[in-house]
Amino acid sequence: MTKTGSFEFYDNYAESAQKLQPELYEEINKILNNEFIHFLNTFNRKPIILDIGSAGLLPYDPNLTEKCVLFDLFDKPEGLQLDSKCEWITGDILSDKLPPQILKIGKFDFIIMSSLLHHLCNENNEIIKNLETCFYHSGLLLSDTGKICIFESTCPKVLTIIEDFFYPIYSRLLTKILKLTFVRMVTMDEVSLLLKKVGLKTEIRPFKQPRYIAQMYWRVPTKFYPLKINAIFACHNLVKN
Ligand SMILES: C[S@@+](CC[C@H](N)C(=O)[O-])C[C@H]1O[C@@H](n2cnc3c(N)ncnc32)[C@H](O)[C@@H]1O
Repeated sequence: MTKTGSFEFYDNYAESAQKLQPELYEEINKILNNEFIHFLNTFNRKPIILDIGSAGLLPYDPNLTEKCVLFDLFDKPEGLQLDSKCEWITGDILSDKLPPQILKIGKFDFIIMSSLLHHLCNENNEIIKNLETCFYHSGLLLSDTGKICIFESTCPKVLTIIEDFFYPIYSRLLTKILKLTFVRMVTMDEVSLLLKKVGLKTEIRPFKQPRYIAQMYWRVPTKFYPLKINAIFACHNLVKN
């Protein structure tokens, strides 16, 4: 993964993104906090979390966790205050050499990926290959009873065909002119098939659609939007649902 462009089109990503789409993050908070409480009641301990592509935005209560590792391609933004349960580790989930601090922790009870997948793209539009690598590495870091919790806007297949066709043009516009990073939206089928391909079992959770979603600085009503936000959970095949 090339570290191209930036995700910081807002002054303060974590605060601005939540302010623009409060309903979206409330729904994610509700789902994740319930999962963490259920984990505590089942295992009599708080879970250890890996939040890949966190950007410092925590859509859950860190007090319900033992430890949260915020793993991101970019360094911790200056001025971002972290809860004492949180540790920021800079690194690339696509790299074969994951940071030693992550490997030292070993296995995680929850691996969160919120609005990450469509950014796992590069100059050659290798989104499918990169999704598979991300899921494979995440599977290695996931405990036997752990869950991967993906929250992602997915689009119809026809849009990905159009995106792939125009990719060389619009990715140049995004990275060279707008100074942003690579983006390729994903379909539900792409996500579920690749999770299955790396040996993970998937489950689609109900997700209440927010009335608005942010597109860079703007709020777009979701009823006029071709994308749908999904909660996709995955676990090792040995776990009973
Ligand atoms: C759109 S932000 C999502 C932030 C937050 N999770 C949310 O829900 O709004 C995507 C984040 O993924 C990170 N990211 C992109 N590619 C990554 C990679 N290969 N490994 C780790 N983090 C990555 C980016 O640096 C960025 O902070």
